[in-house]
Amino acid sequence: MSFPKGFLWGTSISAEQVEGGWNEGGKSPVQIDYAAAGDASHMRKVWFLNADGTRGSMPAFGKLPEGAKYQLFDDIHYTNHDAADFYHHWKEDLALFAEMGFTTFNTSLAWSRIYPYGVQGGVNKEGVEFYRNVFTEARRLGMDPVITLYKYDEPVWFEETYGGWENRAMIDEFVEFAKVCFREYKGLITKWMTFNEINILLMFRQMGNSNLPMQNIYEQIHNQIIASARSVKAAHEIDPDLKVGCMIAGICSYPLTPDPEDVMANYVNFQENFCYCADAMVRGAYPSFAKRMWDQDSVTLEVTDEDKKDMLEGKADFLGFSYYSSSCITTHDAEKGSGNVFSGAKNPYLKASDWGWTIDPTGYKYMLHTLNDRYQVPLFDVENGLGAYDKVEEDGSIHDDYRIAYLKAHIEKLKEAVNEGVNIFGYTTWGGLDLVSASTGQMDKRYGMIYVDMNDKGEGTFERKRKDSFFWYKKVCESNGEVIE
Ligand code: BG6
Repeated sequence: MSFPKGFLWGTSISAEQVEGGWNEGGKSPVQIDYAAAGDASHMRKVWFLNADGTRGSMPAFGKLPEGAKYQLFDDIHYTNHDAADFYHHWKEDLALFAEMGFTTFNTSLAWSRIYPYGVQGGVNKEGVEFYRNVFTEARRLGMDPVITLYKYDEPVWFEETYGGWENRAMIDEFVEFAKVCFREYKGLITKWMTFNEINILLMFRQMGNSNLPMQNIYEQIHNQIIASARSVKAAHEIDPDLKVGCMIAGICSYPLTPDPEDVMANYVNFQENFCYCADAMVRGAYPSFAKRMWDQDSVTLEVTDEDKKDMLEGKADFLGFSYYSSSCITTHDAEKGSGNVFSGAKNPYLKASDWGWTIDPTGYKYMLHTLNDRYQVPLFDVENGLGAYDKVEEDGSIHDDYRIAYLKAHIEKLKEAVNEGVNIFGYTTWGGLDLVSASTGQMDKRYGMIYVDMNDKGEGTFERKRKDSFFWYKKVCESNGEVIE
């Protein structure tokens, strides 16, 4: 059993979760710059000032109440402001990536560094040069980066100017941003992804973890799907060799019981939370069950003939996805699963992380086959990993055998799937450099093979340390997955 020659190995990070430098280099603020950290059982919250001068908070991705304004408060520590300080440590971090034998890495571009105030405000050259330096150095070190254009970080300026993604004006803004990136980094970046986990709002709608009306959620997603399709078309015009993929949060769920109602409910979960977006982006049209979803959520979505044409002509070249955990679906009363992000019933066969995320390598293989069978395009695993508390020993070592065990079990299943014919060209672990958690805003929830000395309270030096998993993953990458022990 082996991986194909040229299979890409590396890790994935994201602009808002690693960079810091939140108000440096001409960058404008994004919503998450106003978010405080939560903890293992509390999601992070975004804080603002109400029109009447009182303080308010809401879930990330939420909408400000009428008249409210984002505002920083002295008694809150904002973990994203410095994050892992990649903005100032990127050379050192890339050298560590190369030391591990990476042939790729994934990160996102902060739109707020490239177009801080939209097209009318002009391109911020400093932002463009920052990423050019990062990509040039990555290439020099032998890595072929796969870059995501948008990951949860719409500049606040867009929200204030257009009201956000439910406004179709955002489509043109995004496509211009995408075109600048495709042109500026031509030759440096050959593989792109448009939107990270574009289905996340659909997942939140099911969990009730959003203050957005249904109509708004579907409009936002639709406009992003159209922006993505038009960007794919633009990329192919700028350089026919560019490959542009989509990225969907992976869903693996099981019916809790053999009751046919549970089996049906489980399938519907997959249709609604994964296939709705993936079908639109990979097959180029909304699936037949989309109408059922719009009706059940009392949504009227305007899909123009031009939209339909764009979706068909701007199909994604590959399907990127994340996978962490699986869940169980049931129509019966059952004990709830403990994950802060994944909903569903408790699976008695699986252990879970300290954040309640089940650990399920077989579910990973199940999902790889499901996606391969349904979509028939190359797959790319952008995110997979274990968030855990790490302990630094007195001698500075970090023995994260739990993380090695998680990654090893998943890479073994990946290898089996590849040998059974699954068409996948790369695997990047999530957060190889410790970073700010997206759901809780914590630094202490660590995914990295590289430790970053910074905690939830803002205490630390940003010094980097190699964990045990660093040395283990180095062997995996350098042997093209032959050595997993
Ligand atoms: C993925 C996101 O869904 O999950 C990442 O794309 C995120 O941004 C990752 O960090 C892990 O989630 P969390 O909440 O543990 O950071």
